[in-house]
Amino acid sequence: MTPGVKELFATMEYGPAPESGSEAEAWIAAHDRKFGLFMGGTWVAPSSNEWMATFCPSNATELAQLAVANKNDVDNAVAAAKTAFKDWSTRPPIDRAKVLYAIARQIQKHSRLFATLESLDNGKPIRETRDIDIPLVIRHFYHHAGWAQLVGTEFEGYEPLGVVGQIIPWNFPLLMLSWKIAPALAAGNCVVLKPAEFTSLTAILFAEICEVAGVPPGVVNIITGGGETGKLLVEHPEISKIAFTGSTEVGRIIREATAGSGKKLSLELGGKSPFIVFEDADLDSAVEGVVDAIWFNQGQVCCAGSRLLVHEGVSGRFLTKLKRRMETLRVGDPLDKAIDIGAIVDSIQLARIAELVETGVSEGAAKFQPKCSLPEKGWFYPPTLLTNVSPSSTVAQVEIFGPVLVAMTFKNPAEAIALANNTVFGLASSLWTENINLAHDIAGNIKAGTVWINCTNQFDAAVGFGGYRESGFGREGGKEGMYEYVALRKPATPKSEVFKTESIELKIGIDRTYKQYIGGKQARPDGGYSDEILVTGKRMGEVARGNRKDIRNAVESAINAQSTWCKSCHHARAQILYFLAENFDVRKADFVDLLAFAYQSLQKADAEVRKTTNCLFRAAAWADKFDGQVHSAAFSGLVYTRNDPVGTLGIVCSPDQILLGCVAPVALGIAMANTVVAIPSEINAIPMMEFVQVLETSDVPAGVANLVSGPTKELAKIMAEHEGMDGLWSFGSNDLTTKIESLSISNLKQTWCVDSQYCDWTSPAFEREALRRATQVKNIWTPAGE
Ligand code: NAI
Repeated sequence: MTPGVKELFATMEYGPAPESGSEAEAWIAAHDRKFGLFMGGTWVAPSSNEWMATFCPSNATELAQLAVANKNDVDNAVAAAKTAFKDWSTRPPIDRAKVLYAIARQIQKHSRLFATLESLDNGKPIRETRDIDIPLVIRHFYHHAGWAQLVGTEFEGYEPLGVVGQIIPWNFPLLMLSWKIAPALAAGNCVVLKPAEFTSLTAILFAEICEVAGVPPGVVNIITGGGETGKLLVEHPEISKIAFTGSTEVGRIIREATAGSGKKLSLELGGKSPFIVFEDADLDSAVEGVVDAIWFNQGQVCCAGSRLLVHEGVSGRFLTKLKRRMETLRVGDPLDKAIDIGAIVDSIQLARIAELVETGVSEGAAKFQPKCSLPEKGWFYPPTLLTNVSPSSTVAQVEIFGPVLVAMTFKNPAEAIALANNTVFGLASSLWTENINLAHDIAGNIKAGTVWINCTNQFDAAVGFGGYRESGFGREGGKEGMYEYVALRKPATPKSEVFKTESIELKIGIDRTYKQYIGGKQARPDGGYSDEILVTGKRMGEVARGNRKDIRNAVESAINAQSTWCKSCHHARAQILYFLAENFDVRKADFVDLLAFAYQSLQKADAEVRKTTNCLFRAAAWADKFDGQVHSAAFSGLVYTRNDPVGTLGIVCSPDQILLGCVAPVALGIAMANTVVAIPSEINAIPMMEFVQVLETSDVPAGVANLVSGPTKELAKIMAEHEGMDGLWSFGSNDLTTKIESLSISNLKQTWCVDSQYCDWTSPAFEREALRRATQVKNIWTPAGE
């Protein structure tokens, strides 16, 4: 009997819908399957004559040979970029904009070649390269053509950095290239970019596009090679900034290698992002969301929604729907337009995924894989769901970077938040609920740089992307991303005011005992030692000598105070800072006396006290004005930015400006809802410890501001190593910077180290930079319409 339509639908297979890879193959063949290095606008063979193979993941055959750049090549590429910088950075903005615009146009004209080449080289489905990767790349260059023109006026007081070294991974080869190159060029920098060894071909095609688009020689240099080439780039002394995307492990190595070098650094690292489904969510939409979250790009996505958290009441129903949907996923040839899941980038990555899944099973997880067939050749892994997983198990904590979803349940919103934040990472999250109040409450509480409400994996050039915690620091995209490619212009000669000095005696009252200020209380130093402060040989008093235990206690107080302080309303924080200013003003004569003796200059003391009052008032003013923004993204809905606090902030104060140099960063830090632990100037901590009385009388909640006096280097080291500290500022010598930056790698703290001679707390530009450093951008996406 001839089958009816119903029977046909039940058995009907999707026929193959292949996209031709012949143009991409022809492009590779036209280069004799061998690609050199692009530097100074020309193609050169590697100095070592060393080559490496790149493979097609869907059939495990060699695609081409790539040059391996050695030290000599890296030197030459950096030199070419340095030479080009003089002209490129001083060109009229319209000239740079035209070049970026031409790049966008060129990629658009060759979009199918880029898409097929990317699929061949990386193994990702053509549907994704054609409809997501390449359109986003083009949008990125268009968007940044705009920044090339606006950078001069929108970033007043800032300048380009010079030569930027950029190292990218293999999961979004051309997209990551565009996220790095577009803002760098727009800001007036020149770049040396190293693509990942598995996926360099679209970067090479991009270099050819640069030649056509009129990119001046040396502005863009593309060098291929492995980790060793990347290392050479990181260590190169002429590089002003490193922008890296990749594993947290390599991110740490780069943080350590660049410590104290003065190189600016942005790190976009791993993730273990939660995908949270509440009981009132549209479950069918959420199932589709999961498909996009974890099976997009075979799960090889830093922000993949790899941890599914489902409200207990609906978890059974949801998992049933999800498993049914998994049965319909098709794994196969990436160039087939009807394929959902393509190939894994390399056999090493495939083995890593399989090993982690087996670890999960051995730790008690239940594994579900649909009955899909996998191609015989190539590197493929089926979509996988692991249930019966505990929050502390390996698969719930480690980034698998493959098509593997780990599911857990929660009882209520508070538990959902706790589970979502139970990770060292903080890159992204997706939450699903029809309740707008709940959605925005949860979005505010999740520690991640991006929150998608009822959607997932949305990106746009106008919206900054980047992480909290061990997911790295810095943003890519939008205005927030542009800051990564400029630096505050330093004055040619650091500002130094000259004050009249005279012989001043200390006005002595009753003997003062300065203790540590921890958790809102004055506490005796744990060690029981004090250090005498002498001014021109005369005793001014003693300050407590802090130790490891004092710092530990102070950090603990700051952590405990953080959740309440960051939820207090902006107006309340402003009021407290105004009150602080008011109370300081009442006691200003005492501070003038102390500073006059300390500096042996009444004039200097007077000026510093005036500046301190002004600074407290300005911090109060900023508390409710450092707004986020609504982004003009290519997205149907609302994308808004919250400027979240960094969290617990350590502040190592400058040796000079013994009062202002501590009050200013503390006030700006707490204005932005951080809780702080500050180490006042070791030279003379007395005025700052006297300030404790002002803190005590100004309604500053216990634990919000903590002060520990003592030996700067020793205490700074303890803070840098402390995993409870989220950020660390230091306004001291280069020595101290090196120490702080290299010791802060354990939890990848956000550091801001400025030579004390460039700290100008009266400069609005410097103050704004401090506010930016005191916050981290969180972008929240909410779709509109059906
Ligand atoms: P990786 O971090 O080793 O490689 C990323 C890039 O860094 C590549 O271009 C590589 O050549 C370069 N590199 C490696 N060592 C370097 C060094 N010492 N100095 C400078 N550059 C160096 O990542 P890999 O080995 O390819 O993947 C391993 C794991 O990392 C994955 O399983 C995944 O968990 C994670 N990963 C995360 C990515 C993300 O976007 N967050 C991207 C790629 C990998």
